Amino acid sequence: MSLAMARRFESDTFDQSDSRLEFFDDHPAVADVRAEVLEGLGRAHKTLPPKLFYDARGSQLFDAITELPEYYPTRTEITILREHGDAMADLLGRGQVLIELGSGSSLKIQTLLAALQPRLYMPVDISREHLLASARALCERFPALAVHAVCADYSAPFRLPLGPDEGPLAAFFPGSSIGNFEPEEALALLRRVAERLGPGGRLLIGVDLRKSSERLEAAYNDAQGVTAAFNLNLLHRLNRELGANFVLDDFSHHAFFNAEHSRIEMHLVSRRDQEVRVAGERFRFRAGETIHTENSCKYGIEDFHALAARAGFVPERVWTDAEDLFSVHALRLD
Ligand code: TRP
Repeated sequence: MSLAMARRFESDTFDQSDSRLEFFDDHPAVADVRAEVLEGLGRAHKTLPPKLFYDARGSQLFDAITELPEYYPTRTEITILREHGDAMADLLGRGQVLIELGSGSSLKIQTLLAALQPRLYMPVDISREHLLASARALCERFPALAVHAVCADYSAPFRLPLGPDEGPLAAFFPGSSIGNFEPEEALALLRRVAERLGPGGRLLIGVDLRKSSERLEAAYNDAQGVTAAFNLNLLHRLNRELGANFVLDDFSHHAFFNAEHSRIEMHLVSRRDQEVRVAGERFRFRAGETIHTENSCKYGIEDFHALAARAGFVPERVWTDAEDLFSVHALRLD
């Protein structure tokens, strides 16, 4: 998808006289989503791309997940950011262009804005309405901040509306979203980020740490069933957007820790033998067969440094919480 498609958003949700706020739309086309879904469901081990989680309802459910008692990553990362914001700014620099990948509700960045004082904040997210609402709220809350929001799929090569001379660039990639990519894909993504940031670039990235499988499995199997609803919402979305006929009661949420690959896996399990239509094609499911919807890889600090180094990043500093649940890394490109 080319940046030629990006445009200033013409909508009355925006005060067009307010040039601090701009919106660039590079959202994937429906045809691309359809092809990706059919390809994933056609595999021997069925898969769906996790970015599809984030329609309007999925983004709301995700925000609810971040507040669950069992889901420790969000609140732990925010604690680390609050506590070490000034030290992070010392390494990241101040007054820079700050790009955030997967900005969601843009809550985490708010803990750093006072310390970083970015010249421009550029949130990148696939969830268009959520991104718009968050960007707007952020502008209202921080009257001196310029926000150029980009709706794009950062799991594929993407471009940013930035000229060649924007000075030193910094990126913020929180939430252990890097863990939602398998290591080789994570490496490819980090390499693309490195290329975009260029020499002197800085990356602040949140990475969930390896820990007991009990603690991990509880975080992805909450008692209230919000994570299950989030996972199943994917099928609801396919019904709505791709004319699929999934019966949600015929599938169940299953999340477990795969120790060999050091990752939480999320699946949707077919409760019976069935056939489902998606975008005009038929897919058979045996009872117990799953659609693998997400991985959340857990890293040791050394493992993550090794991965980042393969993309050219030099570790500057890492912060963790008192329980060593979560890590935030400052990385540099020479
Ligand atoms: N990246 C985070 C994680 O892996 C958040 C996340 C993404 C998540 N998809 C999720 C959390 C699905 C719960 C369920 O933990």
